[in-house]
Amino acid sequence: MRLTQVFGGITAALLVSGVPAARVPKRQDAPPVSSETPAPPETLTPVPTPTETLAPPETVTPLPPIETTVPPVETPEPTATDPPAPPVTSTPAPPPDPVETCTAHLLVDDFTGWESGENNLAGATSDDQTMNATSTEGGILTFTPNNIDASYIYEQFDCLDTVASGYDSLSFNIKGPEAASVSIELQTVSDCGAEAYESFYYTVDGLSGSLQTINLQLDSWTGANLNGVVGILWYGFSAGMTGTDNEWQLDNIQFLCLDVPAPEDPAPPETTAVPTDPVPTSEPVPTEPPAATTVTTTVWVTLPGGDVSTTTITVQPPTTRVPVWPTTTRRPYPPYYPTYPPWWGIWPETTAEVAAKATPMPAIKNQVVVRQESSPAVAECSPLLIDDWVSQSRLTFLYYNALLKSSSDDATMKSIVVKDNRVTFTPTDTDSYFYTQLGCIDATAYGGVSLRISAPAGTTFDVQLSSTKGACGRETTTDATMTTKQLGWTFNGKEQLYSIPFSKFSGIDWTKFEMVFISNLKKPVTFGPMALYCGATVTEYIPPAVVEPTEPSETVPAPVSKATNLVIDQFSNADENALNQWHGADEGMTLTFKKNTMTLQTNDSDLMWVTQVAETCRDLTEFDDAYLHVAYTGSNLFTIALQQHNEKCNNDIYPYPETWDSLEASRYSTKTDIYIPLNHFNVNRTRSIGFAFKGFYSTTATVFSKIEIVNKIPSGFTIPEKLPSGQFVFACKRPNSFAFAIDDGDPVFAQQVMKTIEDAGITVTFFTVGAPLRDPTTNLSAIYNEMASKGHQIALHSYTHPALEGLPDEAAIDWEYSNDIEAVKETFNGLQPKYFRPPFGTEGARMRQRLAALIDEPYIVQWSVDVEDWLWAESDTPEKQLDAFKRDVAAGGNIVVMHYLYNSTVSYLPEFIKIAKATGKQLMRVDQCMMDPNAPPLPGEA
Ligand SMILES: *[C@@H]1O[C@H](CO)[C@@H](O)[C@H](O)[C@H]1NC(C)=O
Ligand SMILES: *[C@@H]1O[C@H](CO)[C@@H](O)[C@H](O)[C@H]1NC(C)=O
Ligand SMILES: *[C@@H]1O[C@H](CO)[C@@H](O)[C@H](O)[C@H]1NC(C)=O
Ligand SMILES: *[C@@H]1O[C@H](CO)[C@@H](O)[C@H](O)[C@H]1NC(C)=O
Ligand SMILES: *[C@@H]1O[C@H](CO)[C@@H](O)[C@H](O)[C@H]1NC(C)=O
Repeated sequence: MRLTQVFGGITAALLVSGVPAARVPKRQDAPPVSSETPAPPETLTPVPTPTETLAPPETVTPLPPIETTVPPVETPEPTATDPPAPPVTSTPAPPPDPVETCTAHLLVDDFTGWESGENNLAGATSDDQTMNATSTEGGILTFTPNNIDASYIYEQFDCLDTVASGYDSLSFNIKGPEAASVSIELQTVSDCGAEAYESFYYTVDGLSGSLQTINLQLDSWTGANLNGVVGILWYGFSAGMTGTDNEWQLDNIQFLCLDVPAPEDPAPPETTAVPTDPVPTSEPVPTEPPAATTVTTTVWVTLPGGDVSTTTITVQPPTTRVPVWPTTTRRPYPPYYPTYPPWWGIWPETTAEVAAKATPMPAIKNQVVVRQESSPAVAECSPLLIDDWVSQSRLTFLYYNALLKSSSDDATMKSIVVKDNRVTFTPTDTDSYFYTQLGCIDATAYGGVSLRISAPAGTTFDVQLSSTKGACGRETTTDATMTTKQLGWTFNGKEQLYSIPFSKFSGIDWTKFEMVFISNLKKPVTFGPMALYCGATVTEYIPPAVVEPTEPSETVPAPVSKATNLVIDQFSNADENALNQWHGADEGMTLTFKKNTMTLQTNDSDLMWVTQVAETCRDLTEFDDAYLHVAYTGSNLFTIALQQHNEKCNNDIYPYPETWDSLEASRYSTKTDIYIPLNHFNVNRTRSIGFAFKGFYSTTATVFSKIEIVNKIPSGFTIPEKLPSGQFVFACKRPNSFAFAIDDGDPVFAQQVMKTIEDAGITVTFFTVGAPLRDPTTNLSAIYNEMASKGHQIALHSYTHPALEGLPDEAAIDWEYSNDIEAVKETFNGLQPKYFRPPFGTEGARMRQRLAALIDEPYIVQWSVDVEDWLWAESDTPEKQLDAFKRDVAAGGNIVVMHYLYNSTVSYLPEFIKIAKATGKQLMRVDQCMMDPNAPPLPGEA
């Protein structure tokens, strides 16, 4: 846990007491407020305080921390204006009132006087003489603590009434190891005449590793008398993630005026963020300790070269757990599927931009009134969906919710599994958290958030709601937290509807509703769709059911064929069909054979069942005027595809199959029969292999009883028009060509990839996801523009990376395409690519037909060389990517799939290219290898 990491051997109990014994320095004498030479640092070394005199742990369990009164070692000479101090009591100070008189920030120390031991307020500054090294080179104090449990830096000054002076926060620049913590002690006196000071503590967690500005609101030191601040001390310099490098920097310590713009200089620029006011939870439950307050500060960091990055620092009293705001830290590669690690630190403004530019999500269609309470629903209000957990990728790859606002865990969840419009979070420990942002919306018409939850009996967690403090776009929030207990929620393992009524969360500005934050999870919890409901009427968002496609209106004539009927499958045998050919399914489908029927059920649109007409190729052209007939009952919401073999009809040559065409079963159906003209399958039918049933987008089962080819259809059955479905390609068409087709990647590796490709003198195709192009924090727009300028092909890869064929309706599929097309168009100067790679390679009739409806004659590009980076890149055997590449190339594969997401993959790229070149094939873009007349000429061509 973080605290023990930070404080080593000191027990949590001691920390709760606010008595980190070994580190409490004695208050030093303030040097005379004159030009006299200040005391040299040696004399400022505090005398170790015996721990025994400090509050014993047993007295200290509850918050707030017990204030420690430490008599000064050297009693200063009382001055006339310094009456003897009364004994210090632990009466908390009243909250500071904003004062009009503050016109400028107060510089405490810029360390120009470090050598002489004096700060800018003519007070004493020093370390505790345990630093291994200190220096002020470059005008910044740089130091290496010898002992993280003991070393400290302090600032002392004349008693400062921060309330009267109108200072509301303490600001400083600090650099420590990445992810390290530091604690800040504020020393205050009960009044400015008092001699004894009290100490109050605060810990800043998760430092960025770069110099960053931290603002701490003064009332963060709960109980401190802000009318009498006499010193500040930094201690507990924890090691970073590596635990070795422990060099720190500190600079520009200031008290900031309320409402005065932050100073411009010195670097880094001041943050304008201020921590939130701690908001107590309403209706505290007596049996629980008072809710700890959590404060979040956002920090802008100036990087060398002037680029500004944003980092979020969370600040908390030592007893609270890890806080709130989304961080830009990378989250780990999720364990479940070839989905991808993150790279964009999504930030409210930028996601606002992403969301603003996207067309609205399909509207909420299904609002079910669950409970009507006394007050009528507010007029002009419609429920607002926050997240319907529609896509694993959107949540754990792009980090968006349904509002296209930032949403993520803190990178520590053991797993996040999205399925069936539900998300299941399995926490590593109670530090794991999850947030979803709304983007500072006016939620006054809403009464709360509704959602379904299933959790094991006894589960508890915390729900925090936050509003933006100040103008929208600022990252400071006001938060209120309720435990599930306070909300009156209990769980029994079954899914139930819950509501989070706004009325229970006090202090939140509902005109600027920003975030729902779930923390302190102790067990796996599953959430259903989350939505805002209007007024006091709790309504639930019901995800749209899979939409039955409308009957085709346009029909085509159905000729009668002279061919003899051919029975393909009667399901009498689980292993082979009526032609004694193989039939079988991908792992993960449920197949049941019973009485010459096969029941097929799956929840995964990526899986298929195949029944073959031959071991290799069978010429089905004799059936060109005939019909595929499928007798079935149950769901017809799937795709039927006819697969075409490769030119050599050789199962050992890639690709195999070479392609297929996909038709929607439902368009060719009655309730019991499907009839599809063979010539609607736009493939070379002289090389047919078999029929695939795939792209299931309903979990309702289908019972099949017969598959055959018949020469006529029943009277009254109408054949719909064949819809365009694009070219579905796994391989290049140009003889002796080879194409690297690279999907989304991590910008960190972009320059390396570009250099490798440039060194190799080749051009490639990049399939890019649309939404991040509109997100400046990713830099992907600039990166891909540079790639385009170097002659590489830019192509489509959807807007938010879902398995398109699994989406419930065409509107959802269209939304993905239209926004992607638009994002690419605006990013690349009007570019309108015809090339699309399906996320996860998930293909089906609907996604193809919708693409072909929006783009004339599109190419849907799969691959025949898979480096299997998703499988091996982060394993102990990353070199298996090379094996996979060699295997597929040797089998004749010539279109690659890979991502530049991992160091290992990227570092193998030169070798991949070398292997590809060694085949003697020419390396080029996908459009060039398709002999697309619109592709740029090959080098050497006119
Ligand atoms: C400080 O110096 C001592 C003695 O040279 C050394 O053992 C220790 O590792 C150093 N500590 C740090 C944090 O550099
Ligand atoms: C389908 O259901 C199985 C079994 O319940 C589950 O393991 C799998 O994750 C589900 N797949 C999807 C894509 O929802
Ligand atoms: C279909 O495949 C056959 C066998 O490989 C080939 O001879 C024929 O040219 C192909 N037809 C078309 C239209 O490509
Ligand atoms: C963004 O990408 C462009 C183009 O590759 C590059 O020149 C620039 O350095 C990148 N910016 C950052 C901040 O990485
Ligand atoms: C990246 O991979 C290469 C080759 O596998 C390796 O030599 C290098 O150390 C790796 N770099 C990092 C940062 O992991």
